Amino acid sequence: MTDAPQANLAPPATEAIEVTPSNHTLSTGQNLMQQCLGKAASAWPVAQGQLMQGATPLSQWLKTQTTPAYVYNLNVISAEVNRVRAVLPAAIRLHYAIKANPHPAILQHLATRVDGFDCASLKEMQQVAAHAPALIAQTSIAGPAKSDAELAFALAHNILINVESQGELLRISGLANQSAQIARIALRINPPFELKGSGMKMGGGARPFGIDSEQIPALINLIQSDAKLKQTIDLEGFHLYVGSQNRDAAALCAGLDASINLIETLYRNTGFIPRHLNLGGGFGVVYHPQDKTQNTALDLDALRATLFNIADRAQAQWLGIHLNLELGRYLVAGAGLYVTRIVDRKISRGKTYLLCDGGMHHHLALSGNLGQVIRRNWPIIAIDYLDKAPVEPVEIAGPLCTPLDVLGQNLPMPQLNVGDVLGVLQSGAYGLSASPNRFLSHPDCPEWIIHEADAHSVITHE
Ligand SMILES: Cc1ncc(COP(=O)(O)O)c(C=O)c1O
Repeated sequence: MTDAPQANLAPPATEAIEVTPSNHTLSTGQNLMQQCLGKAASAWPVAQGQLMQGATPLSQWLKTQTTPAYVYNLNVISAEVNRVRAVLPAAIRLHYAIKANPHPAILQHLATRVDGFDCASLKEMQQVAAHAPALIAQTSIAGPAKSDAELAFALAHNILINVESQGELLRISGLANQSAQIARIALRINPPFELKGSGMKMGGGARPFGIDSEQIPALINLIQSDAKLKQTIDLEGFHLYVGSQNRDAAALCAGLDASINLIETLYRNTGFIPRHLNLGGGFGVVYHPQDKTQNTALDLDALRATLFNIADRAQAQWLGIHLNLELGRYLVAGAGLYVTRIVDRKISRGKTYLLCDGGMHHHLALSGNLGQVIRRNWPIIAIDYLDKAPVEPVEIAGPLCTPLDVLGQNLPMPQLNVGDVLGVLQSGAYGLSASPNRFLSHPDCPEWIIHEADAHSVITHE
């Protein structure tokens, strides 16, 4: 037991998080992999029902290592980039939003596969400078309340700053003036519409993000007329980011259409010719394959016509404009597997508990505590029994003394015992870097990389 306040004061799990029981679909692990990853599932080789690492079952390999751990498979990332590229017109560049997973090996891998990076902090910009320096000029930073240190770093490295308010604009101008630089900026617009069906909304209504669209014309006028701003600010264009985790192609198309309409209206009203337009993204992945309302994958092909149409419209009006999408989880979620070993198995008042060495300190989203209103089960596979149908519903919990440390609830699984290894699919985005790692002072979590060139080699980065 810990004497942390959460241990004694946290309310019962049923009050802390709303629970939807899974519907007991009898999917094998292999079915789950297929449902979540589609074609990219083949990047995770399986033999005789076991997940393989080269010629060795991954579970065998893990016996020589500590669990829990994250394993990132770069083959999956390449496959996802290729799938997205296939529906993008050449004029729309593909950027990676580092916040999804800042691991250096992932940045290095993507450095030759995407056209730019989008950052949300000083450290993320430093990571690009260190691991993908060739793309530093194709990098942007967005986010409210940027520090002077972040703005100064962006200025020094010629990084595009997505400006979130008039106050921030004036601060950038002051810093640029002090260092005799010209700031490359885009105005981040908070549009008058929301992106329907998004897991998280960042646009529409009152927001900390971006500048309300109705304030944009006055700000363009200020930038074009104020002597100090004219000397220090290069307004390249606009940034729109209205929502994340959206698997509804029709909603994404509607959002993209509404975005280009908005920019066209601004152009008609102000005469300002954009040279840059970041259209956002928000492409979602399947996190809850066993939930009937959540198990359909985004139909990428259904986005193609809208993306081509937007590129044509933009290029026809604003010759040479740079367009881009910024995707995070869509490129990396399927590449990540969080592996955790069963340490104990017990029955409590009729329910079977599998108690594991991994938990919410490494994987907050899995526990349902990262932005979800309703906790839904994630795709969890028993990595040595992928061909086995479930035989019993189990409760899966981690090692933390809090009822919030839930990995699975009423989850149908094959017969499992102490020592067996579970793998949480779709863990490549917002996993370790989005979790309270220091909570209860458990050991750091190793991150392993499966490289593309040689699927047999696995390295770690600490
Ligand atoms: C400005 C911005 N860009 C990109 C992303 C990446 O989102 P996702 O990982 O869902 O693609 C986010 C997510 O919060 C964001 O706020």
